[in-house]
Amino acid sequence: MITGKPLFTAEQIQSRVKELAKDISDYYKKKDLLAVGILKGAFMFFSDIVRQIEIPLTVDFIIATSYIKTQTTGDVKVFYDIRGDVSDKHILLIEDIVDTGVTLNHIRERVLTRNPKSLRICAFLDKRERRIVDVPLDYIGYTIPNEFVVGYGLDYDNKYRNLPYISIFKKKI
Ligand code: IMP
Repeated sequence: MITGKPLFTAEQIQSRVKELAKDISDYYKKKDLLAVGILKGAFMFFSDIVRQIEIPLTVDFIIATSYIKTQTTGDVKVFYDIRGDVSDKHILLIEDIVDTGVTLNHIRERVLTRNPKSLRICAFLDKRERRIVDVPLDYIGYTIPNEFVVGYGLDYDNKYRNLPYISIFKKKI
């Protein structure tokens, strides 16, 4: 169940998204930007942030699911990947949350084999305490404590993704 007040309200989220979009717009000025959303979780953050980025860009998606097998290896399955040649693109991966880092690390290495001009990562939430694999994050919305959160695209058992705010979720016992 959802506990207490939201960790981040819809208003707080939108104002942080604007700040991140400003930094991204400044950095990618005059660069051929390809914004890549990692689905499903990033669908809401992705659509908010691309609308706030003030430079021309193209979009694509990666659909991936991970099954963590051990502490350091995950079996990451990719169901949809970026299409076409990316060697002339500056790619920005847009992710909802980084927890152990296993999923994002796998995706990052996979994208790097396609030789983009550059690769940066923007994650809305960073659960840094839980990190097992060190993935470089260039833009971070918020660093959060080790709590399970839902809303704003994030799910528990595929539910709660549609909430416009982010809340801590505790399993009923
Ligand atoms: P990883 O451990 O960094 O590989 O994270 C794998 C995936 O677990 C993330 O992309 C999320 O989809 C999911 N995840 C991790 N922490 C949370 C959470 O607090 N709420 C919802 N999903 C989470």
